[in-house]
Amino acid sequence: MGRRFDPSGALGGSLRPPADKSISHRAALIGAIAEGETRIDGYLDSADTRATIEAVRALGAEVEGVSPDRVEQSIRIRGVGLRGAKPARIDVRNSGTLLRLLPGWLAGQSEGSWTLDGDDSIRRRPVDRIATPLREMGAQVDCREDRLPPLEVEGAALHGIEYVLPVASAQVKSCLLLAGLVAEGETWVGEPLRSRDHTERMLSDAGAHVAWLRGGVQVRPIPEPLELEEVAIPADFSSAAFFLVAALLVPGSEIELLGVGTNPTRTGLLTVLERMGAEVEAVPVGKRGGSEPIGTLRARASALRGTEVGGKEVPLAIDELPLIALAACFADGETVISGAEELRRKESDRIATTCAALNALGATAEPLEDGMRIEGQGDLRGGAIEAHGDHRIAMLGAIAGLASREGVEVDGMEAAAVSYPGFEADLASLLER
Ligand code: S3P
Repeated sequence: MGRRFDPSGALGGSLRPPADKSISHRAALIGAIAEGETRIDGYLDSADTRATIEAVRALGAEVEGVSPDRVEQSIRIRGVGLRGAKPARIDVRNSGTLLRLLPGWLAGQSEGSWTLDGDDSIRRRPVDRIATPLREMGAQVDCREDRLPPLEVEGAALHGIEYVLPVASAQVKSCLLLAGLVAEGETWVGEPLRSRDHTERMLSDAGAHVAWLRGGVQVRPIPEPLELEEVAIPADFSSAAFFLVAALLVPGSEIELLGVGTNPTRTGLLTVLERMGAEVEAVPVGKRGGSEPIGTLRARASALRGTEVGGKEVPLAIDELPLIALAACFADGETVISGAEELRRKESDRIATTCAALNALGATAEPLEDGMRIEGQGDLRGGAIEAHGDHRIAMLGAIAGLASREGVEVDGMEAAAVSYPGFEADLASLLER
């Protein structure tokens, strides 16, 4: 039996969504690479970010303050230093970010070997995108069919390279920057389109030599250890995005989301929604965690029109493209999302799973090789969907249910805990008024 989400009354009130998943992963990893104590205020306690805590512990970092009953944690990490990772077998569970970031640092350890593996979904996610450039740096990495996890890494002497990513990916960029910390010489990573820059910001806060040059990022090894000291994690824009879209689609809604990370490399959804006619705004309130901007997001129910999404907007809204497709069902006119082939390589093939979910609810969503075409029809009938083990598809189904005529049953709602364990309770709090 799935979970039912029935047509709701208006959403109202305010809440602070849980901590950012991307930034939490980075804080734990960079805390482990640093020396001395890093205090992380508001570390996300989700399935993915727990895997990262377990990973850094296996590598020899000491982690204190983890408590099983809070979604946000104040934790302290005592790092092992740039070259102090102990050999280990790492279970990344469902986390693509852990799978792609960690091998960069491990590949440059003076000695030791590591295996990274995870769940069935992880075993289908490509790692050649990191293995290829890491080998160019001198790394010894092996993977199944030269493409898939498990990934075997052996410590080796690395040298810096100049590498232009074939596809914009913050995970691959971050992997190479972490490798660059323990390589000889300079490492420069160029991106075809700008992707999220949390790693660059946090490394720079920790004292690494990071420079933005020639449309890419350069990192240079430094003789002294990294020191991160304090990081405060903003609320996750990608989690906030579900409520933002719900408020646009359910008549009479008006909500406010507090303390949300508004790093411009994450907020492409806002630009797209504004173009669709949405009443949304992000009011800046300063910075959190050193260099991450935060703001208050406001949204109210709006009439939407179709749009085109592609090019440089894609990496800036990569995890929110399924939500744009949902909003597009309620819009007037057609919406086309293109240049987003990467969506096929997420926790599920999100081009296929998003279109299948929306079509099961009465929409007309056509999968394209590199995106989706959605016919706006002003509303959505409802029905039953399968989350395919993908947290973002599960939460998309819940939001679709509230805005639909007949409600939606979501099979596999538990997947939400990968990024947002308290999702249903938070959603309910915006509905109770
Ligand atoms: C992430 C980067 C994105 C995103 C993922 C998290 C990160 O993946 O889809 O959810 O934390 O760096 P890619 O960098 O592979 O596009």
